[in-house]
Amino acid sequence: MLNNKTILIMASGIGSNFEAIIKYFKQRKRNDIKFQLLTNNENAPVVKKAKKLKIPYLYLPNEKIKSYLLDNNFEYDLIVLAGFMKILDEEVTSTSKIINIHPSLLPKYKGKEAIQRAYFNKDAHSGITIHYVNEKVDEGEIIYQKKIEIEANWSLDKFEKEIHKLEHYYYPRIIDYILGLNVLVVGGGAREHVIAQKISQSKHLNNLFLYDCNDGFSDIGIQLRAKNYTALAKAAREKNVSLAIIGSENYLAAGIVDIFKKYNISVIGADKNTSKLESSKLYAKKIMHKYFINTSKYEKITKKESIDKVLDNFKNPVIKADGLTGGKGCYLDDDIDEIKYQLKMYLQGVYGKASKTSLVEERLYGIEASLFSFFDGENILHFPLCKDYKQNQQGLNTGGLASICPFKINEENEKLLDEYKDKIFEMLKNEKIKNPFILYSGLIFTEKGLYVLEFNVRLGDPEAQSLMNYVQNDWLEIFYKCANRMLKTIELVLNDERQYCIVVASKGYPGPIKTDVELKNLELLNEYDKDANLYFSNVEIKYDRIFSASGRVVSVVGANKGIIYEFIKKIDFEEKMFIKI
Ligand code: GLY
Repeated sequence: MLNNKTILIMASGIGSNFEAIIKYFKQRKRNDIKFQLLTNNENAPVVKKAKKLKIPYLYLPNEKIKSYLLDNNFEYDLIVLAGFMKILDEEVTSTSKIINIHPSLLPKYKGKEAIQRAYFNKDAHSGITIHYVNEKVDEGEIIYQKKIEIEANWSLDKFEKEIHKLEHYYYPRIIDYILGLNVLVVGGGAREHVIAQKISQSKHLNNLFLYDCNDGFSDIGIQLRAKNYTALAKAAREKNVSLAIIGSENYLAAGIVDIFKKYNISVIGADKNTSKLESSKLYAKKIMHKYFINTSKYEKITKKESIDKVLDNFKNPVIKADGLTGGKGCYLDDDIDEIKYQLKMYLQGVYGKASKTSLVEERLYGIEASLFSFFDGENILHFPLCKDYKQNQQGLNTGGLASICPFKINEENEKLLDEYKDKIFEMLKNEKIKNPFILYSGLIFTEKGLYVLEFNVRLGDPEAQSLMNYVQNDWLEIFYKCANRMLKTIELVLNDERQYCIVVASKGYPGPIKTDVELKNLELLNEYDKDANLYFSNVEIKYDRIFSASGRVVSVVGANKGIIYEFIKKIDFEEKMFIKI
């Protein structure tokens, strides 16, 4: 099941790309990939590098290269040219998968001395191209291009170094991608179910691993078990995982990303420091102020004795726990006595440490929406707006009971949104965010303009369920490119129809609920063919029967609300609760 791969690298010169590729895979302890070097220059420095790096090598004179490749190409999953000074003829290129890297933005400057030609022509920019090889020089299908500006004061030497930096960064990462990726999805809700499902459909996937998944989707991948995040990172490395995707805030705030980075595993998710944007509402407010991002006025509160004094400063106060509360830590009420009572409960620790420090905020009125922005360290990719329906029938805030994507806003608000997108891009670049992650902006369009209610550092649940069905791209490509600074090349492909997600929850949610209650008739979903998808929030399967294990139980997603509700009505679940949108 865990496929081993063999790569033949062909080089004739110094071998700096050869070295960068080998080091990338060695650092990641990728023992699933075997390398061999083939050179047509016995005395090339690359041979010395191969010896030092313990890579088997073979020297063949030019006239023997063709027959060697034709006789042996079945042994190689990929042939990588890394400064190989001989053109391969069609018989070879049409029977093998071969890639090359070229130091220009093809089709410009095909052939020799591409760097020098760009430099002496005083081009404003240049770059690298990674492409498949055909019988013509530098004309095969382009896989990836990266552009850089050539700064006026750069010497040729400096420019060359910058080009080589790009080559050494991107070439191994593209090789990894072409070979097929082993991916780990961390988390166990319906959001992680939809992530895992979309990844499992990718043509770039080798193996999918799951950690902490719930029984409802454990059959999509191979489960990894580990007693802590270090053990998980070790297990992921042993399984040659090239990309980990972290679903929920709890792992992020606990520092899972920082641990994975130590093990050289690419991971989409905020590191511990960045995750404070979500895990401390006070920290987020400070950052919003720093970048002049509109947010409502607030005061920090830690002592019960200050309740009256603090509340006096607000017309319509809202309470928010500073820390993580699974989306339940925001309390709204028109009755001030109720607010006072709840605030006391918060400060006494109704949400543990998370609410012992809380915020009182001025309530904002308007249209709420969720914006998801993928940030790769250089580029930002904003997704179509979503809407999360948070309130249950009693008006209590929940983690979200329904979502839609896209959520349409008027032209005036679109303009405000565009300005906001520029602001957060500046913020992310300036804050020197260390790891690629997803910024989730909880927005509200008010009469006074666009305000931020909160930042989170992950996809929303249940927004992910509608968003990931609305965006039709290969989601593994999006995640991988985000993890490896390649987001710029993504163009979104959107579904023709808006996607709705309705959550079936347990009565009483977000308060006390009854769990371990059987859900029947879920198989009736098959009657709807592709019109509805089912994602499990948290269920347990016992002897082929499905039992609820949390407040939110399943999400039903599709383009036709009527069909979704028709199916939900057929679900036989005594504790069933859902909202109408
Ligand atoms: N939809 C709310 C959340 O994911 O926090």
